[in-house]
Amino acid sequence: MSTAKNDPMIVADKLTRTYPMGSSEVVGLKDIDLKIGPGELVVIKGDSGSGKSTLLALLAGLDRPTGGSLIVDGQDLAGASAAQLNHYRRNVVGMVFQSFNLLPTLSVMENVCLPALLGGHPISKVRSEAGELLAWLDLSSRVRHYPGQLSGGEMQRTAIARSLINQPRIILADEPTGNLDSRNGGVVMDLLANLNRRSGRLVIIATHSRAADPHATRQVRLKDGKVTGDTT
Ligand SMILES: Nc1ncnc2c1ncn2[C@@H]1O[C@H](COP(=O)(O)OP(=O)(O)OP(=O)(O)O)[C@@H](O)[C@H]1O
Ligand SMILES: [Mg+2]
Repeated sequence: MSTAKNDPMIVADKLTRTYPMGSSEVVGLKDIDLKIGPGELVVIKGDSGSGKSTLLALLAGLDRPTGGSLIVDGQDLAGASAAQLNHYRRNVVGMVFQSFNLLPTLSVMENVCLPALLGGHPISKVRSEAGELLAWLDLSSRVRHYPGQLSGGEMQRTAIARSLINQPRIILADEPTGNLDSRNGGVVMDLLANLNRRSGRLVIIATHSRAADPHATRQVRLKDGKVTGDTT
């Protein structure tokens, strides 16, 4: 099912997501055409309401298009069954959100391990891989902490570790520095860039921040649900 080395990882063709509102509809995305290759670091820009989160939710398999097609890693997301989407979300993509989305009653270690344990991987192997990721993210001294006992930067680094535990081919980050100060924001952007360079992993970041710009291989600009700029 997965794509060959030089094929685009993402192909969107007239990708559309509208939301019904009474007798009319609100446009989230309208007729987006995009091809994105495996090693890119794409920064998505655009004003509030331009469709950035809508696009990332579709790419994450959290939402479905209402029109057009979306093929990611060889998989047709518009036509996928619920079980296929579930598998896709767990194995192909890793998500990082502005609000971290950590589970408050689980420790850092447990939060990071959870997606792999849900996938049925053996706990000893998962714990050791989580330990390595947390060490890389400078969180070894925080593994027993709960999210409420962490700083914002530590929470987002925990979320990055969690997004990586199933070794996804794509990392999607929606405003990942929105709740961080500029220093921690810079650290998070550098980590995401490092993931892209180190392993050639596709990273897509929707952000208002300029901190990602120096790392971008490509910048896609959205306005009113349409692509108005696409520069490499
Ligand atoms: N569930 C929904 N129901 C109705 N309209 C929605 C829904 N989700 C998003 N929209 C609309 O779709 C458009 C795009 O929203 P989206 O969240 O993708 O913007 P964004 O670029 O991420 O903005 P921001 O920078 O504020 O995060 C907006 O006009 C928004 O109001
Ligand atoms: Mg958004």
